[in-house]
Amino acid sequence: MHNNLAAASHTDATLSDRVADLLARMNLVEKIGQMCQVNVGEGHIPANIAEDIRAGWVGSVLNEVDPARVAELQRIAKTESRLGIPLMIGRDVIHGFSTVMPIPFAQAASWNPQLVEAGARVAATEAAERGINWTFAPMVDVARDPRWGRIAESFGEDPTLCAVLGAASVRGYQGAALNEPYAIASCAKHFAGYGAAESGRDYATTNVPENELRNVHLKPFKAAIDAGVTTIMTSFSDIDGIPASANHFLLRKVLREEWNFPGFVVSDWDSIRQLAIHGLTANDRESGREALQAGVDMEMHGDAYRGHLESLLESDEIDSDHIDDAVARILRIKFELGLFDEEPGSAPPRTTDHVDPLQVAEQAALESVVLLKNTNDALPLDTERLTSIAIIGPLADAPRDQLGTWIFDGDPSLSQTPLASLQATLGESVRIDFVRTLETSRSQATTDFGDAWHAVSRADVTLLFLGEEAILSGEAHSRADIGLPGAQVELIHHLRATGKPLIGVVMAGRPLVLTPVIDDLSALLFAGHLGTMTGPALTRILCGETSPMGKLPATLPRMVGQIPIYHSQKNTGKPPHPDGVVMIDEIDPQADQLSTGMTAYHLDAGYTPLFPFGYGLSYAAFRYGNLLLSAESITTAESLTISVDLSNNGDYGAHEIAQLYIRDLVGSTTRPVRELKQFQRIYLEPGETRQLTFTLDAKDLEFYGRSNTLTVEPGEFHVWVGGDSNAELGSSFFVTA
Ligand code: NOJ
Repeated sequence: MHNNLAAASHTDATLSDRVADLLARMNLVEKIGQMCQVNVGEGHIPANIAEDIRAGWVGSVLNEVDPARVAELQRIAKTESRLGIPLMIGRDVIHGFSTVMPIPFAQAASWNPQLVEAGARVAATEAAERGINWTFAPMVDVARDPRWGRIAESFGEDPTLCAVLGAASVRGYQGAALNEPYAIASCAKHFAGYGAAESGRDYATTNVPENELRNVHLKPFKAAIDAGVTTIMTSFSDIDGIPASANHFLLRKVLREEWNFPGFVVSDWDSIRQLAIHGLTANDRESGREALQAGVDMEMHGDAYRGHLESLLESDEIDSDHIDDAVARILRIKFELGLFDEEPGSAPPRTTDHVDPLQVAEQAALESVVLLKNTNDALPLDTERLTSIAIIGPLADAPRDQLGTWIFDGDPSLSQTPLASLQATLGESVRIDFVRTLETSRSQATTDFGDAWHAVSRADVTLLFLGEEAILSGEAHSRADIGLPGAQVELIHHLRATGKPLIGVVMAGRPLVLTPVIDDLSALLFAGHLGTMTGPALTRILCGETSPMGKLPATLPRMVGQIPIYHSQKNTGKPPHPDGVVMIDEIDPQADQLSTGMTAYHLDAGYTPLFPFGYGLSYAAFRYGNLLLSAESITTAESLTISVDLSNNGDYGAHEIAQLYIRDLVGSTTRPVRELKQFQRIYLEPGETRQLTFTLDAKDLEFYGRSNTLTVEPGEFHVWVGGDSNAELGSSFFVTA
């Protein structure tokens, strides 16, 4: 241990020396140049960019993925610029590169950090083979508004789940050491509060009080930093009146002073110049000044830094230490990545000892599927008896749409669709009638409804592949109505009249409002966009080879007006309860104002969601019981063990995700009614029972209270363990000082 520590600090000293030595030899243009990232991505290297690299004006490029051009860019930087400083080559490698994993929101349903890490590792490897050394992922914004298109890119609504999976993703991209081949720098984004955009409209203003910011939105960023993330990206949005790219509180106070973040901060695309559009500054010059002072180290695509830092320095409006500090941070990451030590112009060699990307993609898809409903064991399909299936819907055979948003480099020709997989698996023994019916998820045309009816009428069972096309989610693709688009609801109602059982598979970039169709479906799988291996994964689940095992990473509302609705809401002073809710149709016309119970619910929606956070059924039948605590009371220095028996009373061996929630009953600031604290993934054979143990200690119980510092406040806590956020099996304990 001692030796390792000594070795680590020696390396650190060497690194600092190398950074300091280089910095001392740089002129101002070369320093500012390191702080500038330029867009290439035009199918060739523009002459002006090559010239700028030679002159030292470029620290990083983004969007060039051709290996020969990437190598050429590095060659120019390393051999034709005065100091030979290599480039950071950035790209949005969000959920896979050529091989596409499920969208992050779908992956989050796996609650499996090892799997998220493995997916990121595959993506990093495929990207690094092109010479890319920096991805703008993971997005760790807590997303509590399904209207927001970027919920697709998130790990959902819960800070703990986002923290665990975000950290796993960082480890996957960055590997065991940054200078290993196929390790690429990662970037936790968007700092901070971006997911809280008003009405889920991307880029819109956010209003998040500091206490909420610290307890919810900042938590996954801290976890990413603890996992070693090298870079942080600012958010496009303004928070409490200050756009993130000029936000001193976020970038200097929290990130540097409180967390000691050693990496560097990159702006989002042109977001420094956008400070003027926000109305925070009058022009690019002021924007450059505000961003530098706040702590943005590198400007992504924009020329506020290049155009103005020199003259701002001359007029003493900025501090040269801020420039040196930014450059040192950037250089440090370049050294850590080993970029100075690579041969100029070389791309990493292809290796043959990688895991099989398709196998990782299939496992990720398999674990990302959530079973929401399964009346009379409609699933799995009885493949022994089945003679005919009708396959209906625009997403049964949509190679590109199943990949989801953010697939700049994804290869749709690799996609295995549900239709193709079902045909390959069952086609010899079962008649498969496919009627797409709607060209896209948005189609309104009902012309093919008759053909669909005919196919359904003569089939034993019908599989409906519905949801949202990829283009309806992602950046700048927010929706105000998150129901099934186009004529899909009408289609389900039409086919319901055949009297045949309908099984729905919803593929979407966000939680959808499924209330209008839930009663029409015998079974329902929520699948997100599952990526390249969507077909084989869904086929294995539909045919019963594997039980669904995913759990919802976000609440599914009954109706859009309930949003934001999430499991860890506050109690309020007037919490609703089942007996005190009078729904709109039940109100007596003569009722007086006080007659509905005066609690926090909607007259037309109640207060519960359609499906709660953490929910997901299985082909197995899991039961929780016998919850025991190791003590009734612990001090803040002690830990508490909670044990519970989990049994599989069904006929299927399956994985369950056991979730532990707490409630801190009294706090110096109000606490959520439930908070996810830990989870475990367990496989149980039919008839098997296992005792699970969870250990809670101070770090699970602490929160930011009235003084906005992290602390455990003594008092009573409730604890529950179960298969979703409505778990009823619980107990309570006390924490003393
Ligand atoms: C804008 C997005 O907000 C960000 O997430 C992304 O990484 C950059 N563009 C680069 O494409």
